[in-house]
Amino acid sequence: MPGEAPPATPVSRPTDTVKMKRGHADSGTPRATAPSGEPSHARDLAACCVDVYSHPVARWLFGESFHPGGLALTQRVARLAGVGSTSRVLDLGSGRGASAVHLAETLGCEVTGVTLEATGVEAGQHLAADRGVGHLVEFRRGDIQELPLGARAYDVAMMECVLSILPAKAETLSRVRAALKPGGMVVVTDVTVSGPLPEELRGVLTVAGCVGDARSLDGYARLMSDAGLEVRQVEDLQSTATSVVRTIKGKLLMAELASKLGKLPLDAALIERAKALLRGVQRLIDDGLLSYGLLIAVEPRRG
Ligand SMILES: C[S@@+](CC[C@H](N)C(=O)[O-])C[C@H]1O[C@@H](n2cnc3c(N)ncnc32)[C@H](O)[C@@H]1O
Repeated sequence: MPGEAPPATPVSRPTDTVKMKRGHADSGTPRATAPSGEPSHARDLAACCVDVYSHPVARWLFGESFHPGGLALTQRVARLAGVGSTSRVLDLGSGRGASAVHLAETLGCEVTGVTLEATGVEAGQHLAADRGVGHLVEFRRGDIQELPLGARAYDVAMMECVLSILPAKAETLSRVRAALKPGGMVVVTDVTVSGPLPEELRGVLTVAGCVGDARSLDGYARLMSDAGLEVRQVEDLQSTATSVVRTIKGKLLMAELASKLGKLPLDAALIERAKALLRGVQRLIDDGLLSYGLLIAVEPRRG
């Protein structure tokens, strides 16, 4: 929705519960937290990212698909992982369900989306019904670090922009591996950080970009290998990262224009700060410190 003014709705918190449709994922109260024993920083990071991605301003900035590259990248990686009409796909950290619904709609596969926020589950269910794929897609609310995911049940697990957020990365990848059929694939697309970020950007990027615990491409690849997966493809998607910055810059310019025309009560200093932040982010991308990446790995068990 380029050109529209940003909404000003309060942040919603994942405290309410939603009745699950079916299946083996559990219906216990999900937590926007790390498993017990994790440092509070990790719990804060997870809760904070859920808040950000539940917020209407995030939807205004990023659209319905909450990852760089949007649904075009989702489609590309799903095809690389061999998703077809007979596939069962697990979409971990499914957000508002855009990817899950898109894959069911375009490829005819069955998709189970799991996400922390109740609003995401509701939005996904509505979207699936709206697009006529309610029979192919289901959403469950829960923490993918703890929720039973099933055993040898899925052909492909998608992790779009969620591994970076998880405090229990290694354990979760092992659980994801166990949920895959032999020869099943894991797709990770995520923010990558390849060195120390400048202090002045770290705080805001942790909140707005969920980069607080992001890894380098090598770091993610190592985590996947350590979980017993065979990494088959690794790509740095620097131009995808840059195009996110460009899109947000365009939206800010529209907001600035609306504010100058008196149509939007926005503080000029805030807009300037946001523009400076985007320039800083672009420098990090140009310097190779911050990027977006994709990794595809296979579950190597036989039969
Ligand atoms: C950056 S958004 C990406 C959403 C979606 N994958 C997409 O690309 O549109 C991250 C999503 O992961 C979810 N998430 C974060 N930690 C989670 C966890 N431990 N268990 C389940 N979902 C989680 C958040 O609630 C949010 O919906």
